[in-house]
Amino acid sequence: MTQPGVYERFLDHAHRADPYPLFPELHGEPVARQPDGSYVVSSYREIVALLHDPRVSADPRNLPESCIRGLALSEEESGTTPAFIGRDSPDHDRLRRLVMRHFGPPSAAGRIDGMTAWMGEVVAGLIDDFAGRDRIDVVDDFAYPFPVTVICELLGVPREDEPRFHVWSQTLIDSIDPTSGSVAERNQRRRRTTAELREYLNGLVEAHLRKPGDDLLSALAADGEMSREDVLATAALLLVAGHETTVNLIANGVLTLLRHPDVYERLRRDPGLAVGVVEELLRYEPPVQMLGPRRTALSDIEVAGVTIPQGSVITLMLAAGSRDPGRFPDPNHFDPDRHDNQHLGFGGGVHYCFGAPLARQEARIALTEFSRRVVNPRLVTDPPPYRRSATLRGPRHLPVDIDGVI
Ligand code: HEM
Repeated sequence: MTQPGVYERFLDHAHRADPYPLFPELHGEPVARQPDGSYVVSSYREIVALLHDPRVSADPRNLPESCIRGLALSEEESGTTPAFIGRDSPDHDRLRRLVMRHFGPPSAAGRIDGMTAWMGEVVAGLIDDFAGRDRIDVVDDFAYPFPVTVICELLGVPREDEPRFHVWSQTLIDSIDPTSGSVAERNQRRRRTTAELREYLNGLVEAHLRKPGDDLLSALAADGEMSREDVLATAALLLVAGHETTVNLIANGVLTLLRHPDVYERLRRDPGLAVGVVEELLRYEPPVQMLGPRRTALSDIEVAGVTIPQGSVITLMLAAGSRDPGRFPDPNHFDPDRHDNQHLGFGGGVHYCFGAPLARQEARIALTEFSRRVVNPRLVTDPPPYRRSATLRGPRHLPVDIDGVI
């Protein structure tokens, strides 16, 4: 029997708690052809080059039938178009600009700046609820409810509907996980779930058109330049992205800090360290470990001496790029003082994470307040149990013993 390749082992749940020992092997063959003919790219320079290469398409409609259509959040079979994460330039750029107009630049008193004080109150309320308990689950009690509350408020989605779209967003995330069933099964699950989510969002758009609020969905719905299809696909994308990524950044953050008590202590005393902590977390324990198989070569592309033939599917191993020793000195060391930390945690190129300013702000507030107020937190199990997904990686639960809160 042949030994499974390193990418296959990376996908195996056995490596989920600590995939990093596999990275030197990935770096050994930075552009690696897989048995199914796809390519896995793991070195920093090559990933950045491909993220910026217009010959690499992010449109799921260019993927072969044998691939899952991922988080496109559209019913391509019925002729509708994907959200802008799955569109190429110039279509992508036009839509992203339209949505950005309503999201607001973070430095110009946009929506995010306006929400910062309120976000602090949400975090304070969650930590208040730890009082009187000697054990908490950092995922269920903290890292999950916070970003979900924020994205609901931002979009204008009722918080009480959360149990419904929790299931939808979980199903969609599972469907992009290469280990969660056959492609046909996963495509079927994804189609059914996308249809349900869109029907739900369509009802909300109608309601917001009748009675607009000061939220993103109301603004998008009233924007004459966006088709209803695009509004629904964008809203679904933001809802899922706002659900399934920041939770892992915060949970990975608490876990990493408790494994590095010296850094934890510094953050407790100096909230200013949060900026460096969050950047280094995005490099060292990134919630989005890889993009793929989501990209397609539109023509032959030569990279690091390898020609990726036209039509090939490409997987970009962002986490491996962010631990590439050719780019980051001492890459396996968690160092919040690291200089020149241009990690790949938010991707790069035209699809660079749209929610990055929000995610950064959420993680800074959450980690600063946790370290300031929670008394003597101790990990109950290390490693904790992990979610199934290799793509969006994070603990499923993170039990921590505490001696109360201040
Ligand atoms: C794109 C990571 C939070 C909205 C991306 C991409 C990455 C990423 C790696 C690139 C995808 C690609 O190139 O195919 C993260 C991480 C987050 C986070 C690690 C949290 C720690 C958020 C939040 C939102 C969001 C909170 C929504 C408010 C988006 C959107 C795109 C995107 C809309 C597509 C951008 C485009 O195609 O132009 N994100 N994200 N993300 N993210 Fe995030």
